[in-house]
Amino acid sequence: MDVEAFCRQSRIFVIAGKGGVGKTTVTAALARLAADTGLDVLVVGLDDAGALPVLFGRETAFGYDEVPLYESRAGGRVTGRVITPDDALLDYLTDHGLQRVARRLVSTGVLDVVATAIPGIREILVLGKVKQLERAGAADVLVLDAPATGHAVRFLTSANGLLDAARGGPLRTQAADVVDMLHDPERCQVVLVTIPEETPVNELIETAYRFEDEVGIMLGPVVVNSCYPLIAHLGADPALLAQVAGVPPLEEREAARLRAAAAFRAAREAVQEEQVHRLESDLPLPELRLPYMSSGEIGAEDVAVLAAALREAITALDAEELSFAANRARSAGTGGGTAGGGA
Ligand SMILES: Nc1ncnc2c1ncn2[C@@H]1O[C@H](COP(=O)(O)OP(=O)(O)OP(=O)(O)O)[C@@H](O)[C@H]1O
Ligand SMILES: [Mg+2]
Repeated sequence: MDVEAFCRQSRIFVIAGKGGVGKTTVTAALARLAADTGLDVLVVGLDDAGALPVLFGRETAFGYDEVPLYESRAGGRVTGRVITPDDALLDYLTDHGLQRVARRLVSTGVLDVVATAIPGIREILVLGKVKQLERAGAADVLVLDAPATGHAVRFLTSANGLLDAARGGPLRTQAADVVDMLHDPERCQVVLVTIPEETPVNELIETAYRFEDEVGIMLGPVVVNSCYPLIAHLGADPALLAQVAGVPPLEEREAARLRAAAAFRAAREAVQEEQVHRLESDLPLPELRLPYMSSGEIGAEDVAVLAAALREAITALDAEELSFAANRARSAGTGGGTAGGGA
């Protein structure tokens, strides 16, 4: 599939998954890739910027004010900002003619009091701000670095909850607008991230169904992050391989070490492939694999490598499979769909 067409499928990509599987890293890689196709991309961190500055080679963190993160030779760029409920409330009050009291209200912690009385208000403020940015065309694409799964489901279902609870008024309007946004695959899709291990894969499968059933949001392809590239001939005899390669004969001790290393790697690859196959059979969504980067802490150069891997994986995607997912999401309307149609 064409990469730009992929990036233009939805205006908002929500990157979600279990804690520590690489959501922020995938957010950075996808944003960079989209910018490399010439698009303007806004990366949104929730609560804080986390590792995002480092992933774009910046030394300082960023907050509510938008900062430039990356400029592509293709003309696209990435900017970043953090959206917190307090800042979103401040903006909301200011936009509604309350700028004189807004700052004071927010600084007195009024939101904490209100949030106790109205669950979901924090989430709706943040999602309302995201909706406003999307509607205002703040960028061609918004990439949201979502919180870890349990929290992410709550984050995205909050609008449904408020819609049920609020009879009228601005809160209900805001919640209805957010629900509309989440239900429209041209505006919003979730990209779930996992690593090829048992627990994260289980959690991803469960979350995928919850996102479709409880939130009614379209599921994009699944990213399987930190995959070991498969090495051929791991079971071959090292002594024989040395002979074939024409290098001096191996000492028995060296050969034994190489055999042990190959066995370790083969076992790791077997676990990985088993989990990927399980994911494919339980959740028939297209899959994008990203390689394990062995360089320690990931930085901007690794993000470039991951963006290139993402480009290759997207190019290999079947566009029809994806448009099928979009159509299914569209016809599911207010939720009730089943992830991959196979629950
Ligand atoms: N492809 C990869 N290869 C190697 N290490 C990776 C890869 N992707 C992410 N990491 C590393 O894994 C760790 C977690 O990544 P990241 O911060 O992106 O995950 P996260 O899902 O955003 O975590 P959290 O839930 O804490 O926000 C980081 O140390 C990161 O450098
Ligand atoms: Mg993160």
